[in-house]
Amino acid sequence: MKKSLFVLLSLLFTLSVNADDLEVKRTLNGASILEKMSPQPEIKKWHDTEPQPRNYPQQPPIIPHTTKGYVINQKFNKCLTCHSDQDSKISGATPVGKSHYHDRDGSPTTKISARRYFCVQCHVPQVDAKPFMENDFKGEE
Ligand code: HEC
Ligand code: HEC
Repeated sequence: MKKSLFVLLSLLFTLSVNADDLEVKRTLNGASILEKMSPQPEIKKWHDTEPQPRNYPQQPPIIPHTTKGYVINQKFNKCLTCHSDQDSKISGATPVGKSHYHDRDGSPTTKISARRYFCVQCHVPQVDAKPFMENDFKGEE
């Protein structure tokens, strides 16, 4: 009986210490105790446009359509279902560049090169968003 009382008391003690710790953390956080929820971020719309002009030779063209739900994994590549040499004839999408069928030594490959498999490593879709900073970048004519 005595033993269990002791266990209970020491448990209560630890709990109160933890609660104190919490207080300390809160005050260390200064006056920034959150009272209001921050406004929900605005949901940005994906841009669906025509292919966009490139800013310099060798720029990976930006993706002029949504890529929501487009899976790229070891077994499946959604992009290639429209953009591979063969499927582009049906889908009307720009076929991937010839460079995408070369390995790192420059030898031609029959399948898409492993270096070009993860399309969104280089190609990005666009959303209608204001730039954080103004800039006066001009692409090459
Ligand atoms: C359902 C078919 C389809 C799928 C899937 C698809 N695309 Fe496209 N893509 C198109 C079509 C069609 C165009 C031509 C522009 C247009 O009409 O929107 C295009 C245009 C592009 C362009 C611009 C090419 C240029 O000449 O500027 C890029 C880059 C691109 N897609 C990349 C991708 C990537 C990366 C994926 C996968 C994440 C993907 N696409 C998936 C149909 C598709
Ligand atoms: C390592 C970067 C990289 C990866 C990964 C990559 N691309 Fe590209 N892509 C480029 C560059 C750079 C260009 C422009 C120069 C060229 O054609 O090689 C390009 C060009 C293109 C073009 C336009 C071709 C033309 O003739 O105008 C399409 C379409 C395209 N890529 C689709 C894809 C798709 C689909 C994938 C995935 C299967 C992919 N790319 C993966 C870098 C990449």
